[in-house]
Amino acid sequence: MRRSGGLSIELKTPEQVKVMREAGLVVARTLRTVTAAVGPGISTAELDALAEHEIRAAGATPSFKGYHGYPATICTSVNDEIVHGIPSRDRRLREGDIISIDCGAIVRGWHGDAAVTVGVGTISAEHAGLLQACETALWRGLAQAQAGRRLGDISHAVETSVRQSGRYGVVEEYTGHGIGSAMHMDPPVPNYGRAGRGPRLRPGMALAIEPMVTLGRQDTVLLDDGWTVITADGSWAAHFEHTVAITADGPWVLTAEDCAGPGDDPRNPPLTGGSHSPRIPPGPQPPWAPLAGPIAVGPDITEGSLGDTRKKDPASVPPT
Ligand code: MF3
Ligand code: CO
Repeated sequence: MRRSGGLSIELKTPEQVKVMREAGLVVARTLRTVTAAVGPGISTAELDALAEHEIRAAGATPSFKGYHGYPATICTSVNDEIVHGIPSRDRRLREGDIISIDCGAIVRGWHGDAAVTVGVGTISAEHAGLLQACETALWRGLAQAQAGRRLGDISHAVETSVRQSGRYGVVEEYTGHGIGSAMHMDPPVPNYGRAGRGPRLRPGMALAIEPMVTLGRQDTVLLDDGWTVITADGSWAAHFEHTVAITADGPWVLTAEDCAGPGDDPRNPPLTGGSHSPRIPPGPQPPWAPLAGPIAVGPDITEGSLGDTRKKDPASVPPT
């Protein structure tokens, strides 16, 4: 543990980070399987069953199921739902929808947590832009996950990136989180804030960074089911998340599969137009992209009641 401003931040050994990588890869493969099944007509409960099967077949445990009574393996948040949507047999996807799929797995006590938003069939240019703005912001944040920088550098990079992409809402009522021997740990990782503030990042820390971006205002409403978070104004929302470890060699995106480049991996073909956001965002490649070693360069530059997507305690001082 590392204490900083009242926060206890768990420090992992390199061996423990490797186990988190195993959990991260289970999550990555599960998200790949589930997103491949997304299409008009499938129900979110069917997607959930697929995810549970994949995680258990890998010898891992779904971390969401039973967490504070959460009833499913994944969260499926459709259109104006931001996070923590509960899979249902009655929710069938339709052409043009967008869906965030959020997944967590535990391997030998260590956690991985990631989310991706994809389109169902063909989506509008406006919605594709939303997805891209959110995914790009995630990767700008991940690029800041380096020893010596501060937590606020991540938050600031995420917010700045979204603002540069257009007039979007940046959700503030839910945040990312520390992760490791539990899914939700210190510190909260807001998607906005000031650079140079907050705890210093050190090797062995691991964070789940998860921007939530809307086409309208940032305000949220929690539905009566106690879980589903929707936008107050009905605008549609995107949500992307990765678990990243801060290592002496730079950020290690534990929930991203290694890939030599788009198209080089038959399991991960380049995506052209249509339903998914582009895997490589425009603009300069992140400085850490060419690094060899354990750094997973995402194939894509590419969290409450419980949100971490923890729900922020309104009384708490933001960590930045
Ligand atoms: N990635 C989400 C989060 O960090 C998943 C939690 S869903 C829950 O909050 F059901 F497990 F709470
Ligand atoms: Co999370």
